[in-house]
Amino acid sequence: MAHKKELRIGLIGTGLMARTHTNGYKRSGDFFPELEYRPVLKTVCARTEEKVKAFAEQWGYESYETDWRAVIARDDIDAVDICTPNHMHANIAIAAAEAGKMVLCEKPLARSVAEAQPMVDAIAKAGVANTVFYNYRRIPAVTLIKQIVDSGKLGKIFHYRANFLQDWTINPELPQGGEALWRLDAEAAGSGVTGDLLAHCIDSAMWLNGPIKDVSAVTETFIKERVHQDTGEVTKVSIDDACIFHCHFENGALGLFEATRYARGHKALNTLEINGEHASLRWDLHDMNYLEMYDHADDAVVRGWRRILITDSDQPYMDKWWIPGTSIGYEHSFVHQVADFLKSLETGEACEPTFENALMTQKVCEAVINSANSKSWKDTGLV
Ligand SMILES: NC(=O)c1ccc[n+]([C@@H]2O[C@H](COP(=O)([O-])OP(=O)(O)OC[C@H]3O[C@@H](n4cnc5c(N)ncnc54)[C@H](O)[C@@H]3O)[C@@H](O)[C@H]2O)c1
Repeated sequence: MAHKKELRIGLIGTGLMARTHTNGYKRSGDFFPELEYRPVLKTVCARTEEKVKAFAEQWGYESYETDWRAVIARDDIDAVDICTPNHMHANIAIAAAEAGKMVLCEKPLARSVAEAQPMVDAIAKAGVANTVFYNYRRIPAVTLIKQIVDSGKLGKIFHYRANFLQDWTINPELPQGGEALWRLDAEAAGSGVTGDLLAHCIDSAMWLNGPIKDVSAVTETFIKERVHQDTGEVTKVSIDDACIFHCHFENGALGLFEATRYARGHKALNTLEINGEHASLRWDLHDMNYLEMYDHADDAVVRGWRRILITDSDQPYMDKWWIPGTSIGYEHSFVHQVADFLKSLETGEACEPTFENALMTQKVCEAVINSANSKSWKDTGLV
């Protein structure tokens, strides 16, 4: 191991994303042995000592902290990884960048554009390596869609369609705010399904099909009041429970997006479809190793939707894993992002999506919310 350069990680948070990122740090070296850098799990931080200590022991961190500022103050940390709720992202990212640390951050970048812009500025001023975990870009089938679209095979693109449907907040007794339920509290989350779910769809959409020009949206908050976990009081729910928007892309395509946490039966129906002049592509997270494609150039008598299993070694990332025909899963998208980040340190190229890229998604999310509130079309300012 001595020949490898160390990337000493300070991770903030011990929840769902803390686990996926830590798994990424642990696995990347094993499956991407050519990388010059090796992540070292230096420290992990959460407010409750008992919880963070247990996390550090279980996942193999050398130490733990209970105040994120202490992580940033440490000389033995190269990169700060932000896996906290959305309202914590800005303060941590700005302080980390100002201290000269690399910054890896969960999505959405922040609660608003006003909060996100200073983060981008701080990163630019410090000139530190950075990335934001819009990890669906690194599911092999989705990465392959990018390659196919960029090859021009689809021709002119007419339609982009995406869904992200869940059903976990239908129960009116579910409280809002606090541990595990911060997503229902606009103060912590910024918005509801728009920032949480549609942000992923928007990032993928703009990566695959270019900037979104303007949007027209409707949102709904089905359950208007919930008990707040922190205060025990019934308070107004300010997040969007569901959001539907349509849009124009800069390339002339029309976009249609829907996200909700009220689609009974759907746990994470995250789908995308692109319809071009010559071909269409379709992907579904529930069937994430498959890419569906319709190619009008096929021989007419056998023309139809193909369902392609993405496990061959000449398909994106798959040469790193097992043998053709054997699948990988959700967690691998994080391993891939960590590996790509480590690679970017060697090449000096940005590991996209960067903070700057994530700000573009934030701008679309904000235009969506503003459009719904004002019942009017809104420009995103990106075109
Ligand atoms: N990329 C993805 O697919 C994806 C999926 C889920 C969540 N996320 C994003 O990841 C972030 C975290 O989400 P999660 O699901 O892991 O949430 P979570 O509720 O599971 O974990 C949040 C963690 O932050 C910690 N925390 C809160 N305040 C803190 C503070 N002041 N100091 C230190 N730690 C603090 C909590 O203790 C908890 O460990 C959010 O921004 C979310 O939007 C991204």
